[in-house]
Amino acid sequence: MTFPQGFAWGAATASYQIEGAASEDGKGLSIWDVFSHEQGKIDGGDTGDVASDHYHRWREDVALMAGIGLKAYRFSISWPRLLPEGRGAVERRGLGFYDRLVDGLLAAGIEPWVTLYHWDLPHALHLQGGWLNPAISDWFAEYTAVVVDALSDRVSHWMALNEPHVFVDHGYLSGGHAPGLRLDLAAGLQAGHNSLLAHGKAVQTIRARAKKPPTIGVAQVGAVRAPASEAPEDVAAAREAMFAINPSTHFNHAWFGDPMVLGEYPEDLLQHFRRDWPSIRPGDMETICQPLDFYGLNVYFAEAAVGAGHRVEPGTGPQGRGDRPGYTMMGWPVWPESIYWGLRFLWERYELPLVITENGLANTDWPHLDGRVHDPQRIDYLARYLLQVKRALDEGVDVRGYFVWSLLDNFEWARGFRPRFGLVYVDYEDQQRRLKDSAHWYRQVIETNGRALLPGGQSLR
Ligand code: FCB
Repeated sequence: MTFPQGFAWGAATASYQIEGAASEDGKGLSIWDVFSHEQGKIDGGDTGDVASDHYHRWREDVALMAGIGLKAYRFSISWPRLLPEGRGAVERRGLGFYDRLVDGLLAAGIEPWVTLYHWDLPHALHLQGGWLNPAISDWFAEYTAVVVDALSDRVSHWMALNEPHVFVDHGYLSGGHAPGLRLDLAAGLQAGHNSLLAHGKAVQTIRARAKKPPTIGVAQVGAVRAPASEAPEDVAAAREAMFAINPSTHFNHAWFGDPMVLGEYPEDLLQHFRRDWPSIRPGDMETICQPLDFYGLNVYFAEAAVGAGHRVEPGTGPQGRGDRPGYTMMGWPVWPESIYWGLRFLWERYELPLVITENGLANTDWPHLDGRVHDPQRIDYLARYLLQVKRALDEGVDVRGYFVWSLLDNFEWARGFRPRFGLVYVDYEDQQRRLKDSAHWYRQVIETNGRALLPGGQSLR
């Protein structure tokens, strides 16, 4: 047995990270255009002004995707490219770009998966408070309507928000991402509530206006908690920790996942942060909790959980684990089992079909003397994580797809261009693209529907 028929083998990107063309064809400024130009915010002073120049090279990029054999491509729409002021007048040239991209993907046999918001808020709306302004959920619904009216005759897969608690936490609390604010938790919880409402209203808008029956989800993140060993005490501790909120870790799946899927904030969030509680109007929770077709999970980071009374032998590696191969260039642990545990715990809690909307490795890839980009670590990383996705599938978890982060090397937010995540190498001097070894490997994995994951001809059950 291989992966399920129709499994969405994909790769993902986001508008600000790849498009460039920051002020072309009438595009308005986004908060990332402004933030990346502020001194000292981005490693190496990098900006997304040109990025991977995808706005001009999208045809070549679609051809590369077709060469890899992708079944699905997850990309995001730049809100200020469509609505330069965030609201009101629509910039037809911006819309035309996504229109052609969608046609190009479909002609190549690749299913477009659209994310409506991957962090590039129109600067004009930021000046009116951005995610802190309660009106933003209506602004977002208006923008959603523009996209859905234009693309839903051909697009059927939708995600409203990418990682809301990252853009709230990094953008409004720690300040490391745009718009770079350092506010108190009350403001963060209010921005979070507003973004949850935006999610709910966007889902309603898609369902009401889509011309093709839509498949709607969300792309969430949050540290996966994996058991330090497979002892039942550790598994129970990990399950609890994955959704628990305590004064130092509000950053987890429950903060956003519970309101969206279960219709209520987690009890312990209220208990610990009552003082900072956002204003919630009657009907808000109903608006937030819309039926979803899948729950998307971005997996990069995991922490260990150890059950009470269970002892993990000291000296067996970080957090007690001896078999951890290493850390990525982002400083994140390589921990393949975490994707299995994340999928399993989310499946148990939310009972929704799951999609890995992002997973991948940052490295320091470069063209070798033979002209090729050899990236064995990425191949090994992806194979290990995918085998753990398969393990979840074998145990009955409903996983519908897997998206490598990322298709192309790109602008990695505050870390600039140094960490390279792509299956495709981008030379930022001349924008030349080259398939890395991992892209060739991924093509075989897709062609064999996963059978090629195991080296040496072993077969997947
Ligand atoms: C995720 C983001 C994505 C990318 C990866 C590495 O948090 O959604 O844009 O930067 O991390």
